[in-house]
Amino acid sequence: MAKNFVVFGATGAQGGSVTLELLKANNSNSNSNKYNILAITRNPRTTQAQKLSSAGATLVQANMEDLNSLKEIVKGAHYIFVVTDFLGAEGNSDRELKQGLNVLEAASSPACLDTLEAVIWSSLPDARKQPCAYENIVHFNSKRAISDRLWNSPLRSRVTEVWLAAYHENFVNSWGIYEPLKQPDGSYILSYPINADSKIPFMSVTDLGKLITVIIEDPTKYHTKVVSFVSEWRTPLELLESFRKATGVEARFQSMTTEQFKQHLEASLHFPNNVALSMAENLSCYRTNPNMITDHTDYAAKDA
Ligand SMILES: NC(=O)c1ccc[n+]([C@@H]2O[C@H](COP(=O)([O-])OP(=O)(O)OC[C@H]3O[C@@H](n4cnc5c(N)ncnc54)[C@H](OP(=O)(O)O)[C@@H]3O)[C@@H](O)[C@H]2O)c1
Repeated sequence: MAKNFVVFGATGAQGGSVTLELLKANNSNSNSNKYNILAITRNPRTTQAQKLSSAGATLVQANMEDLNSLKEIVKGAHYIFVVTDFLGAEGNSDRELKQGLNVLEAASSPACLDTLEAVIWSSLPDARKQPCAYENIVHFNSKRAISDRLWNSPLRSRVTEVWLAAYHENFVNSWGIYEPLKQPDGSYILSYPINADSKIPFMSVTDLGKLITVIIEDPTKYHTKVVSFVSEWRTPLELLESFRKATGVEARFQSMTTEQFKQHLEASLHFPNNVALSMAENLSCYRTNPNMITDHTDYAAKDA
């Protein structure tokens, strides 16, 4: 019988990759309909949601900020993939926290625990406990607060945390945080709050689904474990070389302090103060700790 797999964030980058990989598993000859994929969205009418529906996922309308809309959905689930949204919640940590805690509470009900085999929680490390000791990375802090509750909940023995590096996709979809920006004189500048030779961990978010299917093939191996996902480390100078090869455009690197980068995000990209500070401290971590995503984990994606 097909196992019920609830995917939160199914219309987004992470959940989208997970959903597509599960659909692929369903369509492979040996596995016909291995998973009953319940793709959660607030709006089933969007193009992205409709694409998932046409490909074979069942769309389920719910808002993670509304606990009541989640309780019925997770009843009978065998697997749950959870990702919370930081930017969509306008950088509001209370809203991101609410999303995670609501899923946790709904999944902790006896009707869900009865069938539940694994919860995969997309989280991030605690920058406050890293050598950089940054206090203001909202999207890290809210995820750690959710993790703390998760590890003390009835779900704890079935949980796997995955920690993801920066997406390669940020170069085309990060509102200008990651990519070289065109200047008034026509030149391009890549600005980060790190050195030219600092190493940033990256992965492609479209590969996430592959990791998740490895985890659920052997859930007990990964229960209570943290799995990091980094494909490669790249310095700003290496990134600019890839940019030059891909576009034929020369760009130069400008190293900024954390404060300068925060001001750049506010002034040039109109980020609100808390989001600018979060992103500035997030990127600044790699100046001192390029292994932030892989340190203190049980497995790395390459071992999984
Ligand atoms: N960008 C990076 O380099 C990076 C690296 C590591 C971790 N992260 C983390 O990744 C997370 C974002 O994941 P993503 O990139 O997959 O996001 P995304 O592509 O922006 O998609 C957001 C998803 O969340 C869903 N969603 C948002 N609010 C919701 C709500 N209240 N109820 C139900 N669903 C809701 C959206 O669904 P609908 O709109 O269809 O409802 C959508 O599917 C962030 O927390 C970030 O910290 C990002």
